[in-house]
Amino acid sequence: MGTYAKLAKRALETDTPVMVQIQELIRGAKDVMSLAQGVVYWQPPEQALEKVREIVWEPSTSRYGADEGLPELREALIKKLRDENKLYNSSVMVTAGANQAFVNLVLTLCDAGDSVVMFPPYYFNAYMSFQMTGITNILVGPGNPKTLQPDADWLERILSENKPVPKLVTVVNPGNPSGTYIPEHLLKRISDLCKSAGSWLVVDNTYDHICRYFMYDGLKHSCIEDNHIINVFSFSKAYGMMGWRVGYIAYPSEVEGIGAQLLKVQDNIPICASIISQRLALYSLETGPEWVRDRVKDLVKNRDLLLEALSPLGEDAVKGGEGAIYLWAKLPDNYPDDFEVVRWLAQRHGIAVIPGGASGGPGHVRISFGGLREADCAVAAGRLRRGLEELMRDGMVQ
Ligand SMILES: Cc1ncc(COP(=O)(O)O)c(C=O)c1O
Repeated sequence: MGTYAKLAKRALETDTPVMVQIQELIRGAKDVMSLAQGVVYWQPPEQALEKVREIVWEPSTSRYGADEGLPELREALIKKLRDENKLYNSSVMVTAGANQAFVNLVLTLCDAGDSVVMFPPYYFNAYMSFQMTGITNILVGPGNPKTLQPDADWLERILSENKPVPKLVTVVNPGNPSGTYIPEHLLKRISDLCKSAGSWLVVDNTYDHICRYFMYDGLKHSCIEDNHIINVFSFSKAYGMMGWRVGYIAYPSEVEGIGAQLLKVQDNIPICASIISQRLALYSLETGPEWVRDRVKDLVKNRDLLLEALSPLGEDAVKGGEGAIYLWAKLPDNYPDDFEVVRWLAQRHGIAVIPGGASGGPGHVRISFGGLREADCAVAAGRLRRGLEELMRDGMVQ
């Protein structure tokens, strides 16, 4: 007792969740505003919440449901995938959020000891999912220094040179923590490389809505499908359903056995996603994409406020932010310890952001602009700007 010796190496060697560390930091400091957690400020559609209130007493709400999700919700999602994402040959499994969807996939597709590929700055939870599954060979490829988009030439090399061939390649579009968007031609090239190497491609589209309605210069978010591609989605952000925990996997219908293997994992983790949450997801979908569009367009003002607040860091310091709810900012070279700067900003200036080291991008910070209404975001932006001005002028004075 009192020793780590009896705990699994897989768990011990998995990173500590950065959000948990930031939550502790926020609790330990006074009056901190958060630009840290990737959340949106709105609640689910009112009509959907009202309908959910009515089914609380229905016996089926309290029973287990089908492991793969409520048939009505899966049917609605297959239609949504066809109409909005142009995915015509996908089957759906509903999960307790996109994070659980990703864990299901890693457990279904990978064995301990396999190698996998991701690109920095990567989504920290995806990295942790690999670590806790016993995948020790996580190949982290370079991105384009200007756009942060994955370097497909590097991927081509790795997929042809690395033996055994990496089992799985994953990308997030648009990215967390950067908000970087992957254009369709690049996604297709990555897919072609995976296909000829025999690797799975898992695309996390958690922000598909916050991309379709929130992109600049005519950029267009798209999904692609093939028998080696699996797409992941979430209800958390678009519909303000973070705490309801609903996501889904769109996997190729033609690949024999994948549904059956996914079900084994599903049956041992949540059995099924919460029934009342799935109903809320269905009712929210029924309110239509305009509901989401109306909310997402207001985020543009938050993004502008925070871009301005980051300006003390210099012209080329800020990247990403083409979709999703994030900006990715480089700290000056003399501050390689991003967590130190994050602590200082919280304690001295009352503003919380995420250290980039958690995403394979030390010396950077992630700023989330979805969680505050415009007026609060303006206050938070003021604090951030004052903090960064002081950092640039005087350093981390106490
Ligand atoms: C890229 C990405 N994937 C997955 C998730 C988790 O989403 P969910 O709440 O559906 O588990 C997030 C949440 O921030 C995310 O940014």
